[in-house]
Amino acid sequence: MKKKPLVVVTRRLPDIIETRMRELFDARLNVDDTPMTAQQLVEAVRTADVLVPTITDRIDAALLAQAGESLKLIANFGNGFDHIDVETALSRGITVTNTPGVLTQDTADMTMALLLAVARRLPEGARMMTDGDWPGWSPTWMLGRRITGKRLGIVGMGRIGQALARRAKAFGLSIHYHNRRRVSAAVEEELEATYWDSLDQMLARMDIVSIHCPHTPATYHLLSARRLKLMKREAVLVNTARGEIVDEVALARMLEAGDLAGAGLDVFEHEPSVNPRLLKLARQNRVVLLPHMGSATIEGRVDMGEKVIVNIKTFLDGHRPPDRVLPSML
Ligand code: 8YV
Repeated sequence: MKKKPLVVVTRRLPDIIETRMRELFDARLNVDDTPMTAQQLVEAVRTADVLVPTITDRIDAALLAQAGESLKLIANFGNGFDHIDVETALSRGITVTNTPGVLTQDTADMTMALLLAVARRLPEGARMMTDGDWPGWSPTWMLGRRITGKRLGIVGMGRIGQALARRAKAFGLSIHYHNRRRVSAAVEEELEATYWDSLDQMLARMDIVSIHCPHTPATYHLLSARRLKLMKREAVLVNTARGEIVDEVALARMLEAGDLAGAGLDVFEHEPSVNPRLLKLARQNRVVLLPHMGSATIEGRVDMGEKVIVNIKTFLDGHRPPDRVLPSML
């Protein structure tokens, strides 16, 4: 009987996905879910036919240099692929795939939740209750900011940006966006969205700014100290994309100085560590921080796993997998 291909999965995945992987492949799973050490990753790329990494693995050129002849596919469990040196992988004849589309709605929901949490002081109120600190209702107590009628500036109008725009429009926000390319007239019309060719000009006029572009060399610190300073003092920044897109130190400084009203962050520059200045601001209820849980739904994780399986199966059957990461996407 033909040997089944060795598929190394770096983190624990939903049971239903792991069961299917065991049936289809010689699946080496990570049942206790401890992130792989550098040495374990080297071992994995040396022996595997297919590697299934996640955002917590650094698949860089040094690691890929140690890959064995058999490694032909990196089937990422996740949409973003900034933790993978795709260029090097492709130059070594390794195909890379991701899981686009299936976490769009969940991430847009979480962005809306974070936006509301900041504007309406949700964590602060919830904490007061669990701490037993509620003095009783008062007309001037725990007042947040109304979001209806405010201007939302979306940086990156791809799938998630558009899904957020749909939700935000229903909440009565006016939609503005900056993107490399203008979206179709039909989408602009549906969302009543205003396109800003200049990110700088858009930032200066928004009440809320939400980030939805991928992290690439071109978007690293796109929200630089200079650009953050363009934002209104009463404005709020929301980030559910990648921490590296915002200069976190500059952001902390502005929040501390009261030059920006607040922020809702689900992603950080150096995950899983979080800038202590941001943590302090969170304890002072001036920012809301979440542990990278934008796409964290049971359904979403199963959908992602199914996409990974389809990509592997298609590839091993000798066809082009549906979710290839192409050089034009880098
Ligand atoms: C995932 C994400 O949880 O898919 C992405 O790009 O940021 C997350 O929602 C993570 O990437 C899984 O690898």
